[in-house]
Amino acid sequence: MQTVGWSRRPIRRVKRALDFSILVVGLWRHDDKFPRLVGFARCTGDGILEATVWDVAINPVYQGLGLGKELMKYVLKELKNIGISKVTLFADAEVVSFYKRQGWTLEPRGSKCAFWYAN
Ligand SMILES: CC(C)(COP(=O)(O)OP(=O)(O)OC[C@H]1O[C@@H](n2cnc3c(N)ncnc32)[C@H](O)[C@@H]1OP(=O)(O)O)[C@@H](O)C(=O)NCCC(=O)NCCS
Repeated sequence: MQTVGWSRRPIRRVKRALDFSILVVGLWRHDDKFPRLVGFARCTGDGILEATVWDVAINPVYQGLGLGKELMKYVLKELKNIGISKVTLFADAEVVSFYKRQGWTLEPRGSKCAFWYAN
């Protein structure tokens, strides 16, 4: 089981990022009194040709139950419905096989990802 150990991000910037995302998916546990956010994923992109998946997470209490897989299936189905056929993501090293099991190709045709940080 994995916990989510990402660094905190300023809430106002997160809200803006969600506003600019082309798909935001929350997976909720149904409960009239205490609905709980169980999973989350979002995508950025041009809305036509390409999308990138970010912030995939399942609440640690609910990990290992197949929800992450279903969440990713849903995300890809929604992107396909929009007409997007090329989807990328940046996987944390320890979850690469989570994506590979679901048919993702690691760095196809020798492509490599690169990062640039402004600081
Ligand atoms: C990665 C994560 C989303 C998986 O969600 P989950 O609901 O626990 O995964 P599932 O139960 O749907 O597992 C689906 C399959 O992936 C496998 N799997 C689950 N977590 C895995 C991991 N960390 N590494 C490799 N395989 C994993 C499962 O064994 C299962 O295999 P199966 O289909 O052969 O039975 C979840 O562990 C998580 O939120 N982790 C912390 C945040 C994170 O790392 N997100 C990804 C950032 S790139």
